[in-house]
Amino acid sequence: MRTIISKTTFLCLFLLVMDGVFGAAPDVMKSVTEGDSVTLNTDVTELQRDDQILWMFGPKETRIAEIYKLVIDMFNSHEIFGDRLKLDNQTGSLTIRNTRSTDSGLYKRQIRSNRGNSDKIFNVTVYAPLPVPVISSNSSQCSSSSSSSEQKCSLVCSVVNVGHVTLSWYKGNSLLSSINVSDLSISLSLPLEVEYQDKNSYSCVLNNPISNQTQHLDITQLCKISECSSWLVVIICGCSAVVLAMIAIVMFILYRKYRKSRPKAETVPTDESEVVYAETTFVPNEKNKKANGTEETIYSAVKKH
Ligand SMILES: *[C@@H]1O[C@H](CO)[C@@H](O)[C@H](O)[C@H]1NC(C)=O
Ligand SMILES: *[C@@H]1O[C@H](CO)[C@@H](O)[C@H](O)[C@H]1NC(C)=O
Ligand SMILES: *[C@@H]1O[C@H](CO)[C@@H](O)[C@H](O)[C@H]1NC(C)=O
Ligand SMILES: *[C@@H]1O[C@H](CO)[C@@H](O)[C@H](O)[C@H]1NC(C)=O
Ligand SMILES: *[C@@H]1O[C@H](CO)[C@@H](O)[C@H](O)[C@H]1NC(C)=O
Repeated sequence: MRTIISKTTFLCLFLLVMDGVFGAAPDVMKSVTEGDSVTLNTDVTELQRDDQILWMFGPKETRIAEIYKLVIDMFNSHEIFGDRLKLDNQTGSLTIRNTRSTDSGLYKRQIRSNRGNSDKIFNVTVYAPLPVPVISSNSSQCSSSSSSSEQKCSLVCSVVNVGHVTLSWYKGNSLLSSINVSDLSISLSLPLEVEYQDKNSYSCVLNNPISNQTQHLDITQLCKISECSSWLVVIICGCSAVVLAMIAIVMFILYRKYRKSRPKAETVPTDESEVVYAETTFVPNEKNKKANGTEETIYSAVKKH
């Protein structure tokens, strides 16, 4: 019984120690874009002479700055931060200027004073600046699908070397699709298909937790009637032209043959009467059947020649 209790106590103690070292959840989250400054505030408005404020950084809780008896000690912080760290001698707040991604991590602040002690953990995340996403056309192939009347313009929005971001397509203000990536340094692309005549406004947005970059889609620029379609038009027009030309040639040849054969048959009157026949048939006129009859006989006479 005694051994069980002592074992449990030991386990509890062990867990407590573990919690103190590794598991302490950050009290404050700070996000900043690379190159910007970030200030980690103490909740002190006016430092007293005997107050001690100590800042530590990283898993090893490296001492990076301290103010005690109003004297500032920056330890070896320049090895990590150069001259980018500044400790406020009024409040003990720590400012990191011109942040780098390597500044990301946990910052622990200890206050020891006559009025009481306090510890606080800051989780600082430095995000790389976001590139503007690029929208490009992805309908290069002149495939069989080009014959379908339901042809769409294929687009793709892409970014390179990003991490912890979301890439999304918006139609107006409504989200159409998105992908997340939590890894570092990865390339992303997200497809979209639109009608060629679509008048909606589309945009591709790249987000991280603190900022975004937007690229608007210019349909008139990227979704011109595709190469395939224009080729199709060229082919159709070309075919039509060829067919028309052939018909014209055939008619010309027939006409020439007709003209050649005509002088041999010296029957000018029949020719005139044929013209008369053509005219009369196109006029919906109440002509007497007699006239019609004569014309028909003349026509058949021509045929027999
Ligand atoms: C606090 O720092 C400022 C400059 O940052 C300096 O002018 C001032 O003398 C310092 N005050 C004390 C009490 O050290
Ligand atoms: C600190 O914040 C970052 C970004 O939100 C998160 O990925 C990380 O897990 C946090 N670290 C701790 C110890 O909570
Ligand atoms: C991407 O992440 C955000 C926030 O972390 C979440 O709300 C969203 O559902 C995620 N989207 C996808 C497609 O996983
Ligand atoms: C672009 O089009 C090609 C062929 O149609 C396809 O294989 C590829 O997946 C498309 N790319 C994207 C990002 O959708
Ligand atoms: C992008 O950021 C601006 C402010 O910087 C914000 O107003 C807007 O809602 C954000 N857009 C998206 C899609 O997150």
